[in-house]
Amino acid sequence: MTEYPKKVYLNGKILNHSEAKISVFDRGFLFGDSIYEVVAQINGKFFYGQKHFQRLDKSLKKVDITFDKSILESSIHKLLEASDLTGQDCILYIQVTRGIAPRAHSYPQNVAPTLMMYASRKTLPDINQTHASVITIPDQRWLRCDIKTTSLIGNVMANDHVTKQGYYEALFVRNGVITEASHCNVFFVKNNVIYTHPANEFILNGITRQIVLEICSDLHLEVREEAIQQNSINQMHEAFLTGTTVQIASVRQIDDHIFYDGEESGEVVKKLQQAFLKIKDKQ
Ligand code: PDD
Repeated sequence: MTEYPKKVYLNGKILNHSEAKISVFDRGFLFGDSIYEVVAQINGKFFYGQKHFQRLDKSLKKVDITFDKSILESSIHKLLEASDLTGQDCILYIQVTRGIAPRAHSYPQNVAPTLMMYASRKTLPDINQTHASVITIPDQRWLRCDIKTTSLIGNVMANDHVTKQGYYEALFVRNGVITEASHCNVFFVKNNVIYTHPANEFILNGITRQIVLEICSDLHLEVREEAIQQNSINQMHEAFLTGTTVQIASVRQIDDHIFYDGEESGEVVKKLQQAFLKIKDKQ
């Protein structure tokens, strides 16, 4: 079981986890009316922090939550200090809800947003050694998966369904194509060409996804931001997942299609994992 973080930041206060409480009328609780981010601190720096903070801002704007982001930097600093994680490898979770108001669907006026954050000590492996077996599942989520909202019941249901059967992830299928996974993006490789779903409203445009696309460009690997049909998975040569904590995870099997046996990932995945490691080491 994962542990609670040492400290929680809640609206300007640093608290022990058992003391950190929100109102039952917080719209994050009532409606899932809230936005979040997850960012890794690696070698003393937030890994692509700028991009994560920009995405937080974008998601908040998409749902019209007004939030003064100038308080973030100093608040994160205080939180990390109180958590004994200044300069340490950790994962920072940030959540901003629309705030507290009597229950009504439309947005309340003049309500202060709730800011909650915590950091947990974690050193990500140099290279993710997972060889993931995953299964496809209908994408029953809403049509704005580009917004990083905490309304994640569709993702949670899919993830629970597959992990209970011993699989690592669920690959969502919408209109016959693979969109993404329950908490990662997914890529395919065929004849050294890399495919991933375009960054539209059907997926979250992962920061790790964007880093991988940059790496592909640096390595002169051809990329096509095109969705892969579920029924053409068996024509693919490699597949991998990307995400902040997953980094780059090789996929060994999707449903009945086995990409490789044992522990030997495909060549392209290995190349990308090495390049990703170099970026982490540099920062
Ligand atoms: N999940 N797609 C979904 C649905 C996700 O939830 C995530 C991240 C990603 C990858 O995004 P990024 O590379 O920016 O982490 C793609 C986070 C880590 C989470 O919910 O904990």
